[in-house]
Amino acid sequence: MEKTVSEAIQYRRSVRVYKNDQELDTAKVRQCIENAVLAPTSSNLQLWEFYHVVDRDMLGKMTIACLGQNAAKTAKQLVVIVARKDLWRKRAAANTEFLMKVIGDKPKSQYTKREKFALGYYSKVIPSIYVEFFGILGWLRYAIFAIIGLFRPVYRQVRNSDLRIVAHKSAGLAAQNFMISMAGIGYDTCPMEGSDTRRIKKILKLPWSSEITMVIGCGIRDPKGVYGDRFRIPFNDVYKKV
Ligand SMILES: Cc1cc2nc3c(=O)[nH]c(=O)nc-3n(C[C@H](O)[C@H](O)[C@H](O)COP(=O)(O)O)c2cc1C
Repeated sequence: MEKTVSEAIQYRRSVRVYKNDQELDTAKVRQCIENAVLAPTSSNLQLWEFYHVVDRDMLGKMTIACLGQNAAKTAKQLVVIVARKDLWRKRAAANTEFLMKVIGDKPKSQYTKREKFALGYYSKVIPSIYVEFFGILGWLRYAIFAIIGLFRPVYRQVRNSDLRIVAHKSAGLAAQNFMISMAGIGYDTCPMEGSDTRRIKKILKLPWSSEITMVIGCGIRDPKGVYGDRFRIPFNDVYKKV
């Protein structure tokens, strides 16, 4: 039986050694990736892709790119979470298409305020934030917003570097959805950022504009694969009630 959310969160550990004699059901891992895409995402742009590595040769290549880490070497499968900020136009267009379907066939004059706002959001606001020219437009936006921000609250994550973080934030949420879903069915994972991301991109034939958020090792835990007791900073040191 699948674990409750709290049980899955408790069960999840970063597992660095997986049982060699226990395979994963690829369809079940895929189902966990389907849960991953249900994570919330900035502006619902879904600037991500998920590479589910099951092929033995590919796993071998990926292990080298993951610097030979045990969590990759002993993994039965790997899931690579890729941030695709570069796909913003395509994703904005997909949102617009979805909205148009929901709105249905009616004259523009009959659009509700919310419908007009939503369409304008993807056709005007998103391009005004995401359009870039060698990072220059981002800095220009940043300066303009900083000046406006002297007088009223404004959105400030408008530089290229800010938007890269925005994409990785959402991709990180998807990664957590995935790992908790895996834990829910008794499968184990280990998120890894210790990797040669350039090599990973080459192995997966990804464009230079994509970015690796993390590689996740997947398998069934070997008891020696949990390297120690869970350590967390005392809760009261990180919890601030205001
Ligand atoms: C973004 C990210 C990158 C990580 N990279 C690695 C890694 O490269 N290798 C590794 O063994 N563990 C890696 N970890 C796992 C952490 O070391 C682990 O989550 C932490 O020690 C807490 O342990 P727990 O996950 O068992 O609670 C990473 C975790 C995160 C969230």
